[in-house]
Amino acid sequence: MKISHYYCITSLLLLILFCFSEGWRADPTYGFTVVPLTEWNFELQKPYDVPLEERYSYENGVRKLWVYADDKPHDPNSLTQPRTEVRIRGLDYSSGVWQFEGYGFVPNGTSGVTVSQIHGAAQAATTLILRIYNGDMRYYSADLIATGMYDRWFRLNVIHDVDGGKVTVFIDGVQKFQVKDKGPGDLYFKCGVYAAPGNISYCMESRWRDIKIYKK
Ligand SMILES: *[C@@H]1O[C@H](CO)[C@@H](O)[C@H](O)[C@H]1NC(C)=O
Ligand SMILES: *[C@@H]1O[C@H](CO)[C@@H](O)[C@H](O)[C@H]1NC(C)=O
Repeated sequence: MKISHYYCITSLLLLILFCFSEGWRADPTYGFTVVPLTEWNFELQKPYDVPLEERYSYENGVRKLWVYADDKPHDPNSLTQPRTEVRIRGLDYSSGVWQFEGYGFVPNGTSGVTVSQIHGAAQAATTLILRIYNGDMRYYSADLIATGMYDRWFRLNVIHDVDGGKVTVFIDGVQKFQVKDKGPGDLYFKCGVYAAPGNISYCMESRWRDIKIYKK
């Protein structure tokens, strides 16, 4: 066999190996169009009786959001759990295919907290809740999505195919979870910290950078 044939076959085998290994991942944003955002699109919700700068900072492109278990809700008339959250404003959707992308960081010690959600549904308050419990990410307090989430930046992509009725979650570009959605409604993306119903750490914090919204 000629040496050039040997190289050709070896390269082909390596290519096949690469394609079947974890090295080859279709990027979740492939085929999507980025929606331009301005600071106006980032509405902030925080305990109603404290100034924003006591629960939020935005430095060097990193939004840091924190809240305490005994904080007040975001509105004096609300009975919900405390939160400091970015609510993507002006891009509510009720059909089509939409995607949230952001790089998140959750410090060790933060537990029992929703770090990202799709708010709204046909029959419920939310379509998707991503919670951190002891370093694991869960769908609400149930299905395990990913482990080892503390003290590292992770890339989160959430695709909501409203027309197809499904939600897909990617961590670091890898599909980790897919679930049926809960029907169309007034839908929008959020991230930050929103205390779970129980098993909450006293201090809750998450950091976010490079938040993008895409659509098809
Ligand atoms: C988180 O902190 C606890 C207590 O300090 C420690 O035991 C644990 O190993 C830490 N976990 C990670 C993932 O760093
Ligand atoms: C808190 O954690 C315990 C033990 O894992 C569990 O049985 C309980 O259902 C949790 N409570 C809430 C409100 O999540």
